[in-house]
Amino acid sequence: MDSLPWLSLLCLSFFPLLASSALLFQGFNWESSNKGGWYNSLKNNIGDLANAGITHVWLPPPSQSVGPQGYLPGRLYDLDASKYGSKDELKSLIAAFKDKGINSVADIVINHRTADRKDGRGIYCIFEGGTEDSKLDWGPSFICKDDTEYSDGTGNNDSGEGYGAAPDIDHLNPQVQKELSEWMNWLKTEIGFSGWRFDFVKGYAPSIMKIYMENTKPDFAVGENWNSLSNGQDGKPNYDQGEARGQLANWVENAGGAINAFDFTTKGILQVAVQGELWRLKDSNGKPPGLIGIKPENAVTFIDNHDTGSTQKLWPFPSDKVMQGYAYILTHPGTPSIFYDHFFDWGLKDQIAKLTAIRKRNGINEKSTVNILAADADVYVAKIDNKVIVKLGPKTDVGNLIPPNFRVSASGQDYAVWE
Ligand SMILES: *[C@@H]1O[C@H](CO)[C@@H](O)[C@H](O)[C@H]1NC(C)=O
Repeated sequence: MDSLPWLSLLCLSFFPLLASSALLFQGFNWESSNKGGWYNSLKNNIGDLANAGITHVWLPPPSQSVGPQGYLPGRLYDLDASKYGSKDELKSLIAAFKDKGINSVADIVINHRTADRKDGRGIYCIFEGGTEDSKLDWGPSFICKDDTEYSDGTGNNDSGEGYGAAPDIDHLNPQVQKELSEWMNWLKTEIGFSGWRFDFVKGYAPSIMKIYMENTKPDFAVGENWNSLSNGQDGKPNYDQGEARGQLANWVENAGGAINAFDFTTKGILQVAVQGELWRLKDSNGKPPGLIGIKPENAVTFIDNHDTGSTQKLWPFPSDKVMQGYAYILTHPGTPSIFYDHFFDWGLKDQIAKLTAIRKRNGINEKSTVNILAADADVYVAKIDNKVIVKLGPKTDVGNLIPPNFRVSASGQDYAVWE
């Protein structure tokens, strides 16, 4: 009993140093599969990522796939047919990350699946698992009944949105749940992954996501629930995005509460706000307007990914304002995700690493407190955990908002951070 106060004292004093809240890095873009030997080349970047305090690296979908990027997978156990490298190269990469304290997150694409062969009808619906035995060797009865192009009408209707480019898998089928859970657990035990990034989670019900989470117990997981902001008549996002972030929060709850959601709401608002509308960054309750304003502990913030940015540019952040974006997400609650392109290809490594160091030094984590001091068209100022102040926007005269004991520790085009 005597030692308890000492123990708690130790915990208190060491907690800020030991508290390693997650920092995600997306280790690929839309072109990585074309580069040849991506797993091997990524090994050269591990030191930089460890120095920047990255805790988890998100790797591309590892299985054989009809599309080179991995998002039309078929033989799920076949990790040797990937355009990113072989199974052994992947295992070696994951082990090298682990040596530097970085855990690997697999991109899990299970909503849909491409079949190896045609059935008697001439339809591609005979699936091959990629092993000698019958694991994941499925037929048309494993396809959602209402995916009439491929199914034989004996499965369940889809529990989520349909996907056009490949058969939608019937996740209400207990054998599907069992065999996919076994495959994911094999990715953990045999390959070395410890977490998941789930692709297109709109494609199946959150209650099914909950089953996969319970069956596989990842150390980190995030789902891509890419929903839209609501727009006004001017075509711009409305100020109030309560519905969009509410959808994300509900999805997290319905999926069991352990999984995170990419904060598409914060991304959408932030990339409009940095274009002279920084007033958008304070909601009507005085809080951040994205998912981080209501459920920060389950929000993964990001600026761009392989879809929104890279060469696809489906919904890109304004390229000249990306550092303002990082100054925001790396000082705010939620779990930030840093994109390969920005860190390496765009030469922002040092600026980003300065911000991650500030985050770590001050113990900013997914649940940190935000106190918004200003949110006008040309300036946004917020204090986080009473330790860090961040300013976005071109306005430079914010001296009256910065207490004299705060010092600038990072700054760049239209942003500054004080500690
Ligand atoms: C399944 O989906 C089809 C097509 O959308 C629909 O007509 C049918 O009523 C659905 N069946 C059930 C049981 O919901």
